[in-house]
Amino acid sequence: MKEIFVDLGKDSYNITIDKGILNNIGTLISKVITPRKAIIVTDKIVEPHYGKIVLDSLSECKFDVKLVSLALGEEQKTLAKAEELYGHLFDHEMDRKSLIVALGGGVLGDLAGFVAATFMRGIPFVQIPTTLLAQVDSSIGGKVAVNHPRGKNMIGCFYQPKAVFIDTDTLQTLPKEEITAGMVEVMKYGMIKEAAFFEYIDKHLTKILELDSDALEEIIYNSCKTKAHVVELDETEQGIRAILNYGHTIGHALEALTSYKKYRHGDAVAMGMIYVSKIARAMNLADETVIKRQESLFLKLGLSLKDTELDPHDIVSKLYQDKKTIAGKLRFVLPTRIGNVIINDSVSEQTILNVLAE
Ligand code: GLY
Repeated sequence: MKEIFVDLGKDSYNITIDKGILNNIGTLISKVITPRKAIIVTDKIVEPHYGKIVLDSLSECKFDVKLVSLALGEEQKTLAKAEELYGHLFDHEMDRKSLIVALGGGVLGDLAGFVAATFMRGIPFVQIPTTLLAQVDSSIGGKVAVNHPRGKNMIGCFYQPKAVFIDTDTLQTLPKEEITAGMVEVMKYGMIKEAAFFEYIDKHLTKILELDSDALEEIIYNSCKTKAHVVELDETEQGIRAILNYGHTIGHALEALTSYKKYRHGDAVAMGMIYVSKIARAMNLADETVIKRQESLFLKLGLSLKDTELDPHDIVSKLYQDKKTIAGKLRFVLPTRIGNVIINDSVSEQTILNVLAE
């Protein structure tokens, strides 16, 4: 078992990582939150695997718990879905002290967290992420949100969970494409801060993709540690936290322009990582190796990085709606080498158009 303390003053919490912890989840949660009324929010894909085990474990530990299973995909992470969920909270007579347990992937965690943040102005919630992407990124750091047709995660806030429990065994039932999508975020941590971690991933990729427990625990632990550190420095993204969006600015634009239906999040972010690396090369900030090393790892992950068929001008227009854009100035996270990025707001539109049209 590995633990990471996320030090955010009165909003601090622990991330616990281990195999098989779902069997004991009621006891673990009751160490953080005394038993009370609770709703487990999950989705139709995760529920058959882990719904009952979490429900039984919480019931045994004296939580007055109900399970809600939603039909959910990225295109349904909407205010309408949040409203459906508020209805379930009212039905279960939840109050300000009641608990939401988010059991599922990133979409589920973002939505359940958003509902926890806004129901009666905020009730406690716990994250149990079951996809690699959610385990290494979205369940940590308190970004909760729903999408708007004009942009991804545009309606949301910062609202920290009371605890995060990561059971690496849940990855054993995850479709291969989901592992790949999560690995893109894992690579991101190597790219933005930890060259040695990038090397580790490259060296141990076979073991990781075979879902070897030790290798999984290692990459999840390292990813969470890096993310926790950045979040501690800048919880509400006034500055450095933006580096966690490496590859996401263009990635989000690609997703939004295709109504979240054409690209998986991981594919879109991987494309975004290559595009910003090409922008950095065009501005003489990084050399070809940075692009090649990432492309080679993406290839090993089985990602086929085709160039987008979208109109570069549409992509640029979409970029202006990114949350990092302030007073009409586009802001990019650009690599300078493996293990280092900078935040830059002087990328010209022409450079972006050239790279997108390359
Ligand atoms: N996923 C980026 C962040 O949490 O800041």
